[in-house]
Amino acid sequence: MRRGIAGLLGAALAALALAALAPDAQGQQPVPRAMGVDTANQCLACHAAQREAATVGVHSQHGVRCVDCHGGNPDVATLPAAHQGQFIGRLSKVQTAELCGSCHSDPNRMRAFGLPTGQLAQFRTSRHGQLLFGKGDTDAPTCTDCHGTHIIYPPYDARSQVYPTNIPGTCARCHTDTKLMAKYHLRTDQLEQFRNSAHGVALFQQQNFAAPTCISCHGAHSALPPTGGEVASVCGQCHQLVDQAFQQGPHGLASKAGSLHGCLACHSNHGTERVAADQIAATCDKCHASNSKLHQMGVDLQRRVVQADNDMQSARRAIDQLAAAGAQVGYYKFRYQSALTYYLQIAQAQHSLDLEKVDQLGRRVRSVSVDLTAAADTKHETRWEHKLVLIPVWFLSLSAIVLAWLALRAVRRTGDRRRES
Ligand code: HEC
Ligand code: HEC
Ligand code: HEC
Ligand code: HEC
Ligand code: HEC
Ligand code: HEC
Ligand code: HEC
Ligand code: HEC
Ligand code: HEC
Repeated sequence: MRRGIAGLLGAALAALALAALAPDAQGQQPVPRAMGVDTANQCLACHAAQREAATVGVHSQHGVRCVDCHGGNPDVATLPAAHQGQFIGRLSKVQTAELCGSCHSDPNRMRAFGLPTGQLAQFRTSRHGQLLFGKGDTDAPTCTDCHGTHIIYPPYDARSQVYPTNIPGTCARCHTDTKLMAKYHLRTDQLEQFRNSAHGVALFQQQNFAAPTCISCHGAHSALPPTGGEVASVCGQCHQLVDQAFQQGPHGLASKAGSLHGCLACHSNHGTERVAADQIAATCDKCHASNSKLHQMGVDLQRRVVQADNDMQSARRAIDQLAAAGAQVGYYKFRYQSALTYYLQIAQAQHSLDLEKVDQLGRRVRSVSVDLTAAADTKHETRWEHKLVLIPVWFLSLSAIVLAWLALRAVRRTGDRRRES
């Protein structure tokens, strides 16, 4: 059946391509297909709702016309002639996917545009595609549910439904629909959680396009939930150094063996947040007994991270004090940056559960922090020393002024007495 439709469409498209090149039956010249101009398209005479689509969007701009998808005859303005031949009216979801695939899976057609051709094949393997093709269930999305039907923009166009900041909303149209999702026993809180997560804040509020959207973790066309062992790799695409540290430690091994749910053991998938420094030991206690040596390790780890936090705070305060005291802070800021680098490495390295490594980094943060605090204290003292040195200077200057004034007065008095006598 699928083959049949695809074959039919293929034949129709080939015929149409030929028809487009040859002068038509009445001997007229073929209609020129200039970019976005489709004046001779009689379909629009009756289908006013699609008029905009004839000039706007990626397809019309590349000369893809109504007939390329629907067939029919665009040169006549009457029915039934306009709908004649290989006419395809309203398409089902399966037909739609095959129609889009008829061009987008064809390397010869897509080569010129540098577009990948795997969308339909990937879509078939996704949970969505399995539902649609396997069970014929139209609750599943087809291409047009995510891209739109008649006006389609490329993913980098902000008007596109698949522009990074629009993707969560596109997925959520179905995934926040409680009635629809209840049928599949799926939760509907993904968008809400994601929006408030470190990732959602980075994406929506900071417009940080390095942050993941739904498809970064699930795939767009191949949308599936990552399984246990895959999770670390999914997160590791972006958090490479964390992933490396994680894989080196015992939790990496446990994750590969399937006894630990990768990164999700401590971070949530949709509500992803950093584990707060003062919550580290409590996190370990979720799995390791609170009287075990692994619990003690969590406590040790927490102490080091909290210490590094405090050291960074002291270092920041010291810089502020130095600046307030009028010191040249360039060099100190440079030292502060190096401490920050070590501090960030602690958050990565602790994923290996290698306390020695964490200690090493912690000591480096500490040493910078101690230096900066000492510099700020010294500056403070020398400022007082300066002020003390100034006291005799002021005293001398004042005395000089008073003496001069006394001397002037004495001179004036003698002058006055002379005039009187
Ligand atoms: C004379 C007016 C007229 C012209 C010209 C015309 N159509 Fe239609 N079209 C209609 C009407 C009326 C309907 C709705 C009635 C029906 O389903 O047949 C329709 C329905 C359709 C549908 C939806 C079918 C459905 O099942 O709802 C498609 C798709 C369509 N037309 C495409 C085209 C294309 C492509 C062209 C140009 C090749 C075209 N039409 C030219 C009047 C026209
Ligand atoms: C890239 C392929 C493509 C092109 C080009 C295209 N259509 Fe469609 N059209 C579809 C699909 C797919 C549907 C099925 C409905 C859906 O999935 O939303 C559809 C549905 C329709 C419908 C049914 C009503 C509706 O909106 O659902 C009409 C009418 C229609 N198209 C007319 C046109 C006209 C007129 C043109 C030219 C301006 C055109 N189409 C160009 C793919 C296309
Ligand atoms: C007749 C062939 C044809 C059909 C059918 C077709 N497309 Fe296209 N599509 C193209 C061409 C040509 C481009 C332009 C490529 C470009 O500019 O990158 C394109 C571009 C796109 C783009 C933008 C890609 C990008 O990154 O630039 C998307 C998304 C898209 N099509 C989706 C669809 C969907 C969804 C359908 C089915 C409703 C569909 N296409 C049906 C030929 C087709
Ligand atoms: C569940 C939603 C969804 C469905 C269904 C879907 N797409 Fe997409 N598609 C996307 C998203 C999201 C992107 C953007 C990918 C990105 O930015 O990397 C995209 C990108 C594309 C592109 C741009 C090329 C590229 O890879 O960057 C094309 C072409 C495309 N899709 C065609 C299709 C076709 C054809 C179908 C049906 C077989 C389809 N899509 C079904 C969500 C979907
Ligand atoms: C038209 C509605 C619709 C849209 C749009 C849609 N989905 Fe779905 N999705 C479904 C349905 C229905 C299921 C249930 C499939 C099943 O369980 O067989 C599903 C299942 C899933 C699953 C599998 C969940 C599981 O554990 O079984 C993932 C992951 C998923 N969708 C992600 C996405 C992403 C990401 C997007 C956006 C790019 C998206 N969906 C857009 C309807 C939709
Ligand atoms: C940072 C990665 C990541 C992002 C971003 C993400 N997901 Fe997920 N999602 C996952 C992982 C991992 C699972 C599997 C959870 C598990 O195995 O317990 C999952 C599971 C799911 C499921 C299955 C049901 C459930 O809730 O467990 C659906 C549906 C889903 N995600 C949809 C979405 C949608 C919609 C978005 C965008 C709003 C999204 N996801 C964003 C990683 C992500
Ligand atoms: C597409 C890239 C990408 C993927 C995939 C990804 N992340 Fe992120 N992640 C980011 C970006 C970007 C940030 C924001 C960093 C910032 O604001 O400094 C971030 C932030 C975080 C944070 C908060 C860091 C902080 O300092 O507050 C955690 C924790 C996190 N991600 C864990 C994960 C986990 C767990 C996964 C997998 C389930 C994952 N990430 C998948 C890119 C990604
Ligand atoms: C979600 C559950 C979970 C959490 C949370 C967790 N662990 Fe583990 N941990 C495991 C599993 C599973 C193993 C594999 C060995 C095993 O089966 O006991 C493991 C192994 C270890 C090992 C190696 C033990 C050995 O005998 O080789 C250490 C050390 C460890 N964890 C420390 C910690 C610390 C410290 C924390 C808190 C930062 C923590 N774990 C949080 C589940 C967890
Ligand atoms: C055993 C619990 C645990 C597991 C498993 C875990 N993390 Fe973490 N993660 C933490 C803790 C605790 C912190 C906070 C450390 C700190 O503040 O120094 C953290 C911090 C982070 C950060 C912020 C680091 C930064 O550079 O700012 C990211 C990103 C992150 N984790 C990603 C991941 C990824 C990716 C995985 C899987 C490869 C993972 N985590 C697995 C406990 C865990």
